Amino acid sequence: MKSIKKAVFPVAGMGTRFLPATKANPKEMLPVVDKPLIQYAAEEAVAAGVDTLIFVTGRNKRSIEDHFDKAYELERELELKDKHALLEMVRSILPPHVDCVFIRQAEALGLGHAVLCAKPIVGDEPFAVILADDLINFSKQSCLSQMVDVHNHQHCSVLGSMTVSDEELSSYGVVGGKQVDQGLIEVEEMVEKPALSDAPSNIAVVGRYILTPRILSILETTGRGAGGEIHLTDAISSLLSEQRVVAYNFEGKRFDCGSKLGYLQAQVEFALHHDQVGDAFRDYLKSLDI
Ligand code: G1P
Repeated sequence: MKSIKKAVFPVAGMGTRFLPATKANPKEMLPVVDKPLIQYAAEEAVAAGVDTLIFVTGRNKRSIEDHFDKAYELERELELKDKHALLEMVRSILPPHVDCVFIRQAEALGLGHAVLCAKPIVGDEPFAVILADDLINFSKQSCLSQMVDVHNHQHCSVLGSMTVSDEELSSYGVVGGKQVDQGLIEVEEMVEKPALSDAPSNIAVVGRYILTPRILSILETTGRGAGGEIHLTDAISSLLSEQRVVAYNFEGKRFDCGSKLGYLQAQVEFALHHDQVGDAFRDYLKSLDI
């Protein structure tokens, strides 16, 4: 079984929940403390062994390309001013062995369609999908890296999952199935954003997937579903009749940075653990009369 070398980042969404901040800037460039969301996602992929980052972009997303590109003027300025630590940081946003590929999704037809746009680059190998607005903190091993281990043992598609409350179910793809091991579910069904009465369980899929290439040919024939979009969940449902799929309750804390509250929670927790500002920020929070 090949290890996971390619990761797809669907970044063509409009980010309407963060307007006006996302009017001219992509939501994936919103920073958590000092790093944009997309950089956390890219670092997670690289730490899991990925060497090709495939960004499926849309309008207003040029700053994502610029972020991962060489910044000649900035580097020259930092060099002239002897700011070597900053220069090193700007130069090492990605390690040299990692390639970035940008594909334009002409129409925003949904997550499934975005993943399908990456087909010419993904080819015939299992690959990862990372939704950058699901930011996942970890202590020992990143979420995707844990999932790569599961994939290497199970030899099938792996969905990153977590247990959510009844009220939250209708915001997620929800799986049903049998628990086969600690934190591991053999998926038997998957439903996109179900009403509570239709939800097969409380296990929701968050923005981490390892998928076999078969999903790409299924996506080619997946019609538009709820809201007129081509859903990745619908394609995974079809995949289930041909191949095993497992859901894995990863270790780590996930922040829904697509929502204002989740984004603010991420800011607070990442700031508290930040090398430079963590201690001062903790003191500041303690000083607040709340
Ligand atoms: C997407 C997927 C959904 C998944 C969610 C995780 O939904 O369609 O299955 O549970 O991401 O964040 P979105 O949040 O883009 O509406």
